[in-house]
Amino acid sequence: MDREDRKTHWERVYETKAPIEHSWYQARPERSLELIARTGAGPGSEIIDVGAGDSLLVDALLENGMDHITVLDISGAALERTQKRLGRRSANVRWIEADVTRAQLAPLSYDIWHDRAVFHFLTNPEDRQRYVDMVLWALKAGGHAIVAAFAADGPTRCSGLDVARYSPAALHAEFGDVFDLVNSSEETHLTPWGGEQSFTYCLCRKR
Ligand SMILES: C[S@@+](CC[C@H](N)C(=O)[O-])C[C@H]1O[C@@H](n2cnc3c(N)ncnc32)[C@H](O)[C@@H]1O
Repeated sequence: MDREDRKTHWERVYETKAPIEHSWYQARPERSLELIARTGAGPGSEIIDVGAGDSLLVDALLENGMDHITVLDISGAALERTQKRLGRRSANVRWIEADVTRAQLAPLSYDIWHDRAVFHFLTNPEDRQRYVDMVLWALKAGGHAIVAAFAADGPTRCSGLDVARYSPAALHAEFGDVFDLVNSSEETHLTPWGGEQSFTYCLCRKR
């Protein structure tokens, strides 16, 4: 799928389906919040949620007093949805509509990079390399990357697209030796209609 098709696909997804019609919907992103807390993040921490869609993570982070949040997604419709939901609080968030593999991010500017269910859509090695280069570019030394992807026994497709699946070791290996694996875990996500999806979460620290 080329970049234009990718954007068209995701705009259509958010223009035509309600949040609870998405398999990835979570009423509260508990595991992500736990891992973010584990990094020692506080109100001044710079955090970016890439491929955030209309996730409720930003709401929970704002409630926790974090006020240096960037939300990035390829879909403007997804960002608009979250902005409407947040109302006036959306002014406290930075919004970036971009493909994460081509985004213009400030160098060494984030303490935490968070991605749930985005990296696994990068089935082309060049896109994965661009993504990893982007994390290296944007994350501060000592910063943390939290990446959740479908596990080795997870779904083979999502939202009509092929995905790659990862064990914790395979996911960490994509990021290379510049990242220490601090923690990995598996999670069985329940879709809004009761289906089970296995996820691998990795928390890595950039040297
Ligand atoms: C499965 S959804 C996950 C959404 C959110 N992270 C969550 O956990 O609820 C994947 C999201 O990644 C976004 N996305 C897909 N490819 C992307 C890319 N190359 N760059 C930025 N966002 C992308 C989609 O628009 C969508 O919002």
